[in-house]
Amino acid sequence: MSNFADFYRRSIEDRDAFWAEQARLVEWQTPPQTICNYDKPPFAKWFAGGTTNLCHNAVDRHLKERADQPALIWVSTETEQEKIYTYRDLHAEVQRMAAALKALGVGKGDRVLIYMPMIPEACFAMLACVRIGALHSVVFGGFASGSLATRIDDAEPTVIVSADAGSRGGKPVPYKHLLDEAIVLAKHKPKAVLLVDRGLAPMNLVEGRDQIWGQLRQQYLDAQIPCEWVDATHPSYTLYTSGTTGKPKGVQRDTGGYLVALAASMKYIYGCQPGDTFFCASDVGWVVGHSYIIYAPLIGGSSTIMYEGTPIRPDGGIWWRLVEKYKVSVMFTAPTAIRVLKKQDPAYLSQYDLSSLRTLFLAGEPLDEPTAQWISGGLKGKPVIDNYWQTETGWPILTICNGVERQPSKFGSPGKAVYGYNVKLLDDQTGAELTGANQKGVVAIEGPLPPGCLQTVWRDDARFLNTYWSSVPNRMVYSTFDWGIRDEEGYYFILGRTDDVINVAGHRLGTREIEEAISGHPNIAEVAVVGVADSLKGQVAMAFAVLKDASVLGDEQALLKLEGEVMKVVDNSLGAVARPARVRFVNQLPKTRSGKLLRRAMQAVSEGRDPGDLTTMEDPAALQAIKDMFQN
Ligand code: PRX
Repeated sequence: MSNFADFYRRSIEDRDAFWAEQARLVEWQTPPQTICNYDKPPFAKWFAGGTTNLCHNAVDRHLKERADQPALIWVSTETEQEKIYTYRDLHAEVQRMAAALKALGVGKGDRVLIYMPMIPEACFAMLACVRIGALHSVVFGGFASGSLATRIDDAEPTVIVSADAGSRGGKPVPYKHLLDEAIVLAKHKPKAVLLVDRGLAPMNLVEGRDQIWGQLRQQYLDAQIPCEWVDATHPSYTLYTSGTTGKPKGVQRDTGGYLVALAASMKYIYGCQPGDTFFCASDVGWVVGHSYIIYAPLIGGSSTIMYEGTPIRPDGGIWWRLVEKYKVSVMFTAPTAIRVLKKQDPAYLSQYDLSSLRTLFLAGEPLDEPTAQWISGGLKGKPVIDNYWQTETGWPILTICNGVERQPSKFGSPGKAVYGYNVKLLDDQTGAELTGANQKGVVAIEGPLPPGCLQTVWRDDARFLNTYWSSVPNRMVYSTFDWGIRDEEGYYFILGRTDDVINVAGHRLGTREIEEAISGHPNIAEVAVVGVADSLKGQVAMAFAVLKDASVLGDEQALLKLEGEVMKVVDNSLGAVARPARVRFVNQLPKTRSGKLLRRAMQAVSEGRDPGDLTTMEDPAALQAIKDMFQN
């Protein structure tokens, strides 16, 4: 085993040689001609000239050695179903889906929007897209018609793949009517909608547009659709993520860079071998699901568990039962899930044989020390590894790379900069590098970003440049928009976002999007949404609204009714995932004299903290009123 410091240094100082070596972990139709073309910073072209296919590496490649090994293990505690697809089965299902998509008019470079619950067909659809060189754009099933419509208009999909319903707590959550509403709202109209009928909810089919997957599948049972060899720089997918405006950004990923980055991460970060079982309890609608439910485990020849359900149904032992049953080697989830499990009977952890489990990885939000301690104790000292990354990067920026060298974790820290990431802490006012220990700065990455990270913002290079590469003064670096510090041993600590993005139960949400949705209520004149600390979800959204008709302000009953209405507006437009925990009605919002909302101050007083310097505030009474609310 080598030494991490040397391994890391080589990845930065001898970048091309390092990544040329990693590129050998995967199969190429034509080997890359260049490793990193960085002629036009900050646009990095990884492995250009090389041709390959993500689906080939995730499926076909394994047929020689592991055709009968489980590839996808689907477990739904919602519908009480379990189904195992071997690599051979997966190969057949993906080709059927690919044939159906082609028949519906999808070609290379076209987009397919996938709006689905956690069912195997979501995996087939993603792999089918990349198989034929089409781009998938998965939209989280918890989003409602407004969010979906925005994404339809940006991605302009040829086909949308969806289902009758998801399920939550054993009750169907219908999808189809939300999709129909979204298509009405959107300017762009797909040629076809392919629907998986799970028999959970009725569907009104639109003649000539809607197709049923079960029927098409029968037509293409024996389909043989070869992988389309694409250039390493060919986009594989877009995935929307929230930023500081109301319009989500389409993070665009390449093919070859992503393939190599994920393959390498299985080796150096996740320590997962071919044949191992990888259980990532996330959702395919989020980046963690893309990378670590679907692509990385399959590229690595593992068996991947796709889980539909909650961690506590039928009881709080369900995940540990799955670890025992499927001999899970590597598990991955978000701290929120562990905080939920912490409230369950601790006996669940000792009731099952967890001897197969080597490591638990947690990501997506800060891992607090009590949660980390509790789960470390419960797993009897097995490593619990935090990783810090973003939708934009696709794989960890900061963690402990135990596959390179075993190193201790520190509570509260996701670890050190990962190989390939030239991470810097910068002064947000001057752009100067902070090299000393424990200085607070913006976590930034020097270009080129390593393989696997976003190539650009979908159809918007200017936004890629202006958002990510121009926010730190005097230098062109990638900003993560997170504050951080680094200790004398190179361990980073993440201190929260520098922008208006909030993190609810590991779900990234833009406060502006929620504000825009709330403004859709006829009686709302103005609104501010901030993230407020929450012991279970990390953060929750808190809305402060000014009414057009303020006459109801003293009437508790009327305000409660209004609060319910506002929440409903958010549910209908964005989805319950974005619903604020509370909507508080105020006379005015705290602003600076130039009219800028004082979000940080609102957040501070909501959390019972000192709001800091307020000399620029227009009317201190506005903030005082909010303070009073939280003191009562
Ligand atoms: O603020 C950081 C937080 O989540 C943001 C990225 O969220 P998302 O794009 O949904 O990607 C999640 C991929 C795991 C980051 O900018 N975040 C993510 N991981 C951590 C974290 N904050 C603290 N610790 C982490 N491990």
